[in-house]
Amino acid sequence: MSDKEQQQVSRRQFLNYTLMGVGGFLVSATITPMIRFAIDPVLKVGEDREMVPVGDISEFGKEYKRVDFKLLIKDGWTEYERLYSAWVRVMDNGEVQALSPVCTHLGCTVQWDTHDDYPNHFFCPCHDGLYDENGINIPGTPPTRPLDVYEYEVGEDGKLYLGRAVPREELG
Ligand code: FES
Repeated sequence: MSDKEQQQVSRRQFLNYTLMGVGGFLVSATITPMIRFAIDPVLKVGEDREMVPVGDISEFGKEYKRVDFKLLIKDGWTEYERLYSAWVRVMDNGEVQALSPVCTHLGCTVQWDTHDDYPNHFFCPCHDGLYDENGINIPGTPPTRPLDVYEYEVGEDGKLYLGRAVPREELG
């Protein structure tokens, strides 16, 4: 093979590599956003929950008040509403306490101040679980951790907004 032929082959190869490179780049630039768009909801499973208003902040005082509300849950491609409840009060320092009524033992519903022997406690009738007025589990009763707390914010419109209920450790 002459030098000229070798040069021609290498030019041809160069052209092939260049075309393959540019073609590959164009294909990946086109396909990547499509794939990402298709699987993005799956990557965000269970993450998307909105905060919803549960009443005017002036409606809440030092005594616990139970509120029921619906949250829109976006789970992958699915969207659905789920019913939640919270025990809500405003403490002396102005902080809002919004507690989940779901017992941390086995998930029954706790009630506020219903047991004659334990006034001002949250009581779980399933296995006699007890929590103090801040939702802290009483040692010696079945629950091994406090009631979860709702994320909250008071909007500029004066309304109290609740989000998801999380274990206290997660709030930091
Ligand atoms: S479920 Fe509440 S004490 Fe067992």
